[in-house]
Amino acid sequence: MSSTLLTGIGELTTHDNERPIRSDAAMVIEGGRVAWVGDSSAAPAADRTVDLGGAAALPGFVDSHTHLVFAGDRAGEFAARMQGASYEAGGIRATVALTRSATEQELLANLQRLAAEALRQGTTTLEVKSGYGLDVAAEERSVRLAASVTDEVTFLGAHVVPAGVDRDEYLALVTGPMLDACAPHARWIDVFCEKGAFTRDESERVLRAGLAKGLGVRLHAAQLGPSDAISLAVELDAASVDHASFLSDLDVEILAGSRTVATLLPGVEFSSRLPWTDARRLIDAGVTVALASDCNPGSSFTTSMPMVVAWAVREMHMTPAEAVWAATAGGARALRRDDVGHLAPGARANIAVLDAPSATHLAYRPGVPLVSHVWQDGVERVTPARTRKTPGS
Ligand code: NIG
Ligand code: FE
Repeated sequence: MSSTLLTGIGELTTHDNERPIRSDAAMVIEGGRVAWVGDSSAAPAADRTVDLGGAAALPGFVDSHTHLVFAGDRAGEFAARMQGASYEAGGIRATVALTRSATEQELLANLQRLAAEALRQGTTTLEVKSGYGLDVAAEERSVRLAASVTDEVTFLGAHVVPAGVDRDEYLALVTGPMLDACAPHARWIDVFCEKGAFTRDESERVLRAGLAKGLGVRLHAAQLGPSDAISLAVELDAASVDHASFLSDLDVEILAGSRTVATLLPGVEFSSRLPWTDARRLIDAGVTVALASDCNPGSSFTTSMPMVVAWAVREMHMTPAEAVWAATAGGARALRRDDVGHLAPGARANIAVLDAPSATHLAYRPGVPLVSHVWQDGVERVTPARTRKTPGS
């Protein structure tokens, strides 16, 4: 088995309990895993050596919430919101119509393009939901395509009730034949529990059906207003409640006493002008917080975890270190994974290297493509641009 030594790491974020951040560090990768971490001066020999010249390295981002199987975009809706229109759950139906009429090749090409875009920005673990098919064949196609790019697939047949379908009939479909068709391709079940989508009782019915099929639970809640479903998510031991923007003090207390993660999605607040969620309040109360992109054509069309980190620091009152933790280790918790989101020996060798001396630069230099190098399962997937010429040179 061949080994690679990464040396000259100016700042290495490992999230290791004893030394979560190291300076002048080195790391050995072997067999797709981290084999050794320590000081550059003590690094063992390896088959290949890459000198990172003082750059910062951190665990690859764990983007635990995306909706990447869709066709078309809704840029017009975004432009209208920027002029005062509000975000409505019903916009989902426009994407459903476009997704249903797209070919499998078109959907796959868009999905692969977005997954590659995420990887280039340092995302090495990606969750992908269905939810723009909303009939048995189109949802089955969505989860099947999602499974071709990731193991973290979520069945979101309960996104909204599709146009022209009776509510009760649709719930029977989602908890019956649609779930039967989708569960073999999925690890998780999710519901959009919100005004204009599904109620707490309806969400419970769908989530319990998924649990009975062996799927883990996640829940979209409290995106657009207060929710009565936070206690439900905790009762069902949901891995994550996502959005979690409009929480009561009791909701915060319930989450803090549970192992359900609150996954915050600042791209949504950016793209809808909704008030920024106060991450500080959640963290100070003891809630585990993750950050994710929620990449979708309606409420947050970005795959950029660096941008998500920058928004969380500037607008949600997280420290840079908290935001980096939430976008890596937090995402791993939200997916109940202990092999990603950190870089101790034994972890997957999923590493993002920055063209910067510290991870703080992710927030300090918003919008700048700082990720220069990405390893995924020990394989170099993104390499620095070969020619970086200064104008005139
Ligand atoms: O997470 N909230 C529900 N689903 C997506 C939005 C989907 C859409 O608008 O197309 C979200 O924000
Ligand atoms: Fe979402």
